[in-house]
Amino acid sequence: MAVDKFVSRHIGPREEDIQEMLKVIGVQSLDELIDQTVPANIRLEKPLNLSNGLTEREYFRKILKIAQKNKVFNTYIGMGWYDTITPAVILRNILENPVWYTSYTPYQAEISQGRLEALLNFQTMVCEMTAMPLSNSSLLDEATAAAEAMHMMYSLRSRAQEKAGANVCFVDELIWPQTLDVLITRAEPLGIELKIGNFKDAEVAENWFGAILQYPNSNGEIVDYSGFTSMAHSKGCKVAVATDLLALSLLTPPGEWGADIVFGSSQRFGVSMGYGGPIAAFFATRDEFKRDIPGRIIGVSKDVNGKNALRLALQTREQHIKREKATSNICTAQALLATMAGMYAIYHGPEGIQAIAERVHNIALLLAREITKLGYTQLNKKHFDTIRIALPRHVKREDIEWLSLDLEMNFRYFANGQVGLSVDETTNIEDINWILEVFAKAANKPVPVIDSIADDRSVDDDIKRKSKFLTQEVFSKYRSETEMARYIKRLEKKDISLVHSMISLGSCTMKLNAATEMLPLSWIEFNGIHPYVPKNQAMGYHEMMEELRRDLAEITGFEDVSLQPNSGAAGEYAGLLVIREYHKSRGESHRNVALIPSSAHGTNPASAAMAGMKVVVVPCDDFGNIDVEALRIKAEEHKNDLSCFMVTYPSTHGVFESSITQMCEIIHQNGGKVYMDGANMNAQVGLTNPSRIGADVCHLNLHKTFAIPHGGGGPGVGPICVAKHLVEFLPAHSVMNNGHVGIHAVASAPWGSASVLTITYGYIKMLGADGLTEATKIAILNANYIAARLKDNYGILYTGENGRVGHEMILECRHLKTAAGISETDISKRLMDYGFHAPTLSFPVHGTLMVEPTESESKEELDRFVDTMNAIFDEIKEVETGVADATDNVLMNSPHTAEMLTANEWTHPYSREKAAYPLEWLRENKFWVPVGRVDNAWGDRNLFCTCEPLESFK
Ligand SMILES: Cc1ncc(COP(=O)(O)O)c(C=O)c1O
Repeated sequence: MAVDKFVSRHIGPREEDIQEMLKVIGVQSLDELIDQTVPANIRLEKPLNLSNGLTEREYFRKILKIAQKNKVFNTYIGMGWYDTITPAVILRNILENPVWYTSYTPYQAEISQGRLEALLNFQTMVCEMTAMPLSNSSLLDEATAAAEAMHMMYSLRSRAQEKAGANVCFVDELIWPQTLDVLITRAEPLGIELKIGNFKDAEVAENWFGAILQYPNSNGEIVDYSGFTSMAHSKGCKVAVATDLLALSLLTPPGEWGADIVFGSSQRFGVSMGYGGPIAAFFATRDEFKRDIPGRIIGVSKDVNGKNALRLALQTREQHIKREKATSNICTAQALLATMAGMYAIYHGPEGIQAIAERVHNIALLLAREITKLGYTQLNKKHFDTIRIALPRHVKREDIEWLSLDLEMNFRYFANGQVGLSVDETTNIEDINWILEVFAKAANKPVPVIDSIADDRSVDDDIKRKSKFLTQEVFSKYRSETEMARYIKRLEKKDISLVHSMISLGSCTMKLNAATEMLPLSWIEFNGIHPYVPKNQAMGYHEMMEELRRDLAEITGFEDVSLQPNSGAAGEYAGLLVIREYHKSRGESHRNVALIPSSAHGTNPASAAMAGMKVVVVPCDDFGNIDVEALRIKAEEHKNDLSCFMVTYPSTHGVFESSITQMCEIIHQNGGKVYMDGANMNAQVGLTNPSRIGADVCHLNLHKTFAIPHGGGGPGVGPICVAKHLVEFLPAHSVMNNGHVGIHAVASAPWGSASVLTITYGYIKMLGADGLTEATKIAILNANYIAARLKDNYGILYTGENGRVGHEMILECRHLKTAAGISETDISKRLMDYGFHAPTLSFPVHGTLMVEPTESESKEELDRFVDTMNAIFDEIKEVETGVADATDNVLMNSPHTAEMLTANEWTHPYSREKAAYPLEWLRENKFWVPVGRVDNAWGDRNLFCTCEPLESFK
């Protein structure tokens, strides 16, 4: 083995293992397997035109040089991003800790109690700060949260409003420009009319279903919206409020003056700016809207033993059930960042957060006072952290600008020449003196010297928060680093992540997230940069992103890439809007039908509906393939209004359908475009590509194929890659020129979650052209090896023409249910007793398990998984043959907790040993599941979504 080659660290099986695995599969060589798997007509003729793989050390030096091209200035731009201090205990134990960053979305509650508790803390923190009763556990960013709020208010219209066609959403003019940008994007396809104006002059009309305000507003001013809110309510118009969590520790929270929805960014709670992201947005609302809230809610329930246990509540898999009728397409949603923000609140507690806020406020007051003394006018009557300054006649804005840049500071400049300053928890005396130096010198005045920050003034009494917040015990217990680290460790011990065992979730690609790829995230040159700084301070970012765009274009065969969307589903939405805009540009805006196969992921129809499209479902045949004839008929039937076809390739059934090019042709012949969902790109890279199969646009899940970790449900990055004819429609941004001039923004930040792009960049640079292709081949090898070893017991539901699976497979489990009464859920829970996370459950086919091993798993780990699945199969056989009890058996009672196994009383017909140590290696390495099987229905009937004392759940 070449010890310095990254590919040999990224890929699991060793050369000798590969030979053995090929034998089991029944082929002579890896190339023969690939030839049998990937149809010849779509194979690439040339290798990828990418650089050769770097060693980890070479890459480290390269990325360090790139980082040094970013200039970290003190930035007072505000506008939704603020410098913050990530407590080192959180940085080290969460952001840099693979247990937290490699775990999956907590669908399997029993082995996810740690991150579920962390996210419940986040929800509780949001409810407390906003004074709202219900919060979800994070959205993609503030601007998309605003769009979700608008959409939710629209869905909540009364019958009468619907009948009367109430379709106007009022937006106060003083919201962040990027929020307005995304609202414009979202409103139009849904037929929502935005009315932008000043709330003070607004007359709420009958056709207004909602209003969106910002508190403090985009000038930084705190205004009283209570009168407007009452007036809106009296006309049946709901009110959503964008806000700042830190400010709410001092200000009367919107929940106390009548807001229906409160949302915003939790970034300044210890999550770095990262040139725009990733950050977690929050979204809180009234209890009565619980069934309409977008995204996920963590709720409290019980396990089988009556012990409190957490799980995802209500609309967990909302899109899969409601599909195009879903209230949103949110799936991956910044969970890791929400976890960090929640931990920040825990570490500081109410008094710490209030102290930070008071200090920030006092600095803003001090600056206002001193700058006024220099002859400037501070315009905000009441403010928290932001002042807006009008310059005296003799002072030029340009002077302020160059003087501040000279001292390595960035201010906000309004179009009318005024200057904005937003301070934050990192601002200190030295910084204050520098700021004052700029204003003094520009005004030709002596430079004042400040030597202390008075912390004696709070906000005025009429706007001051009187209510207590963060009163739950968790927010007062962990003040010392020792206690905090132990709390994080206690939670972490409850969860299965990639450092425990393989996570074979089909369609999720739980591959290695290499440490070298992750390390630069902690560097200030990447995480300390505000997205609106002048481009010449972010040259490292731009060099990295340009190269990444070029590489992703090469990998997909497309012309250009937008890095803006923050998740796969956000990519779907953006890609569909691009197609929509293309049709519009050709005078064919009536083209609005999206053909979507029945096997599609639920986000596909949900995204199509959000893009204003009508979903027409295309069936699959008995072999799991899209029924080409049905597709042809539907495409022809809709040829006058066909917009697009959304297809996942290889299919969600894990098969490379050889008819894919034919399907794309049919769509093109009927005037439509092809959108390829790139969730399964891990089976394509270097072998084929979306352009080759005939698609026009695709999204990539960088958090699957390209090594960004899942973080318990995000960060995600879903760039869209497009063919030449669609480039002009890629999403632009209202504040920064991001190089594209097409549709309005789909995310807050111009380049989306820029900081984690370094991970994908590292992945591509270290694997290089050969390594990337090798990774794809091994992903296919690993899947076919598992299929070969499990096919006799379980059966593989779908295979390609040569009997091969792609990079994943669907294990048939329905016959086991019929024969022994054991369901796919029982198998999933029993896997936990063996220390494994379940494969994807009942998607895309009910009653089955979808397994995707990825290239990173070694033969040894694959064998351990297969042996486990076969041992479980034997346990099922025991039930079927009557050797084990039909209901009181190891499967139905799984998972078994230590508490259950060590109880004085043991009434089951099988032994404790069989329950705990069914295979020998478990004696060496046992994961102890913290709770027994969780009762989902109980939790939905008794919805608790905050971390109240345990008694409240009784
Ligand atoms: C096939 C497919 N499409 C879309 C998505 C949605 O991607 P994201 O979770 O990044 O929004 C997924 C996620 O699992 C998927 O498997």
